[in-house]
Amino acid sequence: MGGNIFGKALTLITFGESHGIAVGGVLDGFPAGIDIDADFIQQRLNARRPGQSRLTTRRDESDKIEILSGVFENKSLGTPIAFLIRNKDVRPEDYEHVKMVYRPSHADYTYEKKYGIRDYRGGGRASARETAARVAAGAFAMLLLDKHGIKITAWTSGIGTVSTGIAGFDASDIEKSPVRCPDEEASEKMIKLLEETEKEGDTLGGTVSCLIKGVPPSLGEPVFDKLNAELSKAMMSINAVKGFETGDGFGMAMKKGSEVNDLFINKNGKIRTETNHSGGIQGGISNGEDIFFRVAFKPVPTIMKPQKTVDREGNETILINKGRHDVCVVPRAVPVVEAMAALVLADHLLRNTTSRQ
Ligand SMILES: Cc1cc2nc3c(=O)[nH]c(=O)nc-3n(C[C@H](O)[C@H](O)[C@H](O)COP(=O)(O)O)c2cc1C
Repeated sequence: MGGNIFGKALTLITFGESHGIAVGGVLDGFPAGIDIDADFIQQRLNARRPGQSRLTTRRDESDKIEILSGVFENKSLGTPIAFLIRNKDVRPEDYEHVKMVYRPSHADYTYEKKYGIRDYRGGGRASARETAARVAAGAFAMLLLDKHGIKITAWTSGIGTVSTGIAGFDASDIEKSPVRCPDEEASEKMIKLLEETEKEGDTLGGTVSCLIKGVPPSLGEPVFDKLNAELSKAMMSINAVKGFETGDGFGMAMKKGSEVNDLFINKNGKIRTETNHSGGIQGGISNGEDIFFRVAFKPVPTIMKPQKTVDREGNETILINKGRHDVCVVPRAVPVVEAMAALVLADHLLRNTTSRQ
């Protein structure tokens, strides 16, 4: 069974390859009567699109969304929402050199082993171009979440060895930084590191942090569809993601229970927790506190240094890459993380109508 459908109550199927005609999606289960702000959806796509700054791939795509169905007079119809984002700046000739060889740590070898055929142009279906469809669908989900007062904010919290633990910043500071890091000092260091690394022909990884406010208690379906499990699957399905943690995550493994238990308190008649080491989810269900998680991205596999590899026949060879690539995916991945979080929360909001209110 193919794995191109995500969600249960709100389902997204995405389609398309990097250098094919278009990428796109069909979003089904989206409730009727929601105001659809097409400008907002386009803004979200603009945040992910390539060529935004000199630190990202020079591929120049306008990523203009065409909504094909499911929306009438700026309102959702309750019918499937289909949309297209055409691929315009395609240069398949840039990928002739990888037609017969496997790029290290990319998806070439595994796709070919699984399907026996692969679209080698720009990574085909394995390209992060597919995430444009997720961002568009996530924008629809955000319009629904907005009605419920749920707000998702992600930012760059680390690139290579530079990281920030900044908290309590203004969300508008994120977009002021070319790397989407609201900590000005860290942002400058990240940019410097990216520039140095690019000159060396190398690439970097990093982390994206995400904070979700306004989530009511009770979202999440134990035992297999726990909210943290669903977020984890959503994030791990993004290209180049290698790690996920909620709340204090891996840091908790080194702590004592007395240090990380979130003690319940009565705050103005509401049951709350004094701390939020759990990241807003307990027993797989949201507890009404802010949801917090972090996602780790590996360095971009395409580096501009010669690398050892093999061809389809197993002959050892040296790969010299070309084409247009990101030095680090993290800044462009921020809106992808937000989109996938929005799809998970919207799905669970819709699924929750069958549980006790
Ligand atoms: C926003 C974004 C942009 C990316 N840009 C590139 C790129 O320019 N070049 C590249 O080789 N990989 C890029 N990647 C990563 C590859 O898509 C990914 O490493 C590859 O498909 C192999 O999958 P895996 O790393 O999840 O195992 C990007 C990923 C994301 C999320």
